[in-house]
Amino acid sequence: MNLENVRVISNPVVLLNLCTMRDKKTDSQGVRIATRKITRSLLYEASQNLPLVEREITTPITTFKAKTIDPDINIIISPILRAGLIFTDEAIDILPQACIRHIGMYRDEKTLKPIWYYNKVPMEAPNPEKFYIYITDPMLATGNSLLEAIKLYADKGIPIKNIKCICIIAAPQGIENIQKHYPDIEIITAAVDETLNEKGYIVPGMGDAGDRIFNT
Ligand code: URA
Repeated sequence: MNLENVRVISNPVVLLNLCTMRDKKTDSQGVRIATRKITRSLLYEASQNLPLVEREITTPITTFKAKTIDPDINIIISPILRAGLIFTDEAIDILPQACIRHIGMYRDEKTLKPIWYYNKVPMEAPNPEKFYIYITDPMLATGNSLLEAIKLYADKGIPIKNIKCICIIAAPQGIENIQKHYPDIEIITAAVDETLNEKGYIVPGMGDAGDRIFNT
C-alpha cells in the first residue's frame, strides 16, 4: 500500500466523532451527526485542489481583488448509494456550485462485486480538465464499487488528479485495489483500519454504515 496518495485527516475533532460513530452504543441519529461533522473536515481538505481566480469585491472599507473558487469549473459530488449520501448536505453547503450525481451500486453478498442499479453521471464531459469530482462513500472496503465509479469519470477523459475518493474508514485491501488500477488517485479518509473480515466488513470499522446511518 502506497500511503503517499492517502491523506488521513485525523485532527482531534475528527477523532472524537470517529469514536462516536464507531461505538455500537451510538444510536442512528448520533451516528448521522458525528458522521456529518467528519465529512465536513474531509471535504474542506479535498477542496484544496480547486483552482482559484481573483474577483474584485467591495468591502465596507475598500475595493480589492479577493481569491475565490473558479466559478467556471464543474464540481461534481458523486455519492455511492446509499451510505455515501451522508456527505451530500454538507458538500452542497460547502461548495454551492457543485452538483450531486448519484451512483447506485450494492454489493453482491457472495461475490462482494458491485451491482449497478442507478447512474446519474453525465454522459458528456466537454472540457474534461474543468471537471472536479469527489466520489463519496464512508466505507472503503474491497474498493470494487469505488473502482467502478472512478472508471466512469476517468473514461470520459477527466484527469485522475481531478478525481478524489473521500471516505471515512478505509481498509488496506481496498486502498491497494484502487491503487493497483489508479496509482495516482488521491484518497482522503479519517482512518485506515486493520483489515477486512470474511464477509467484507472493515475491522474494527463501524459495522454496516448504511444500516447505522439510516436506522435499518
Ligand atoms: N460497507 C459497510 O457498510 N461496512 C463495512 O465494514 C464494509 C462495507
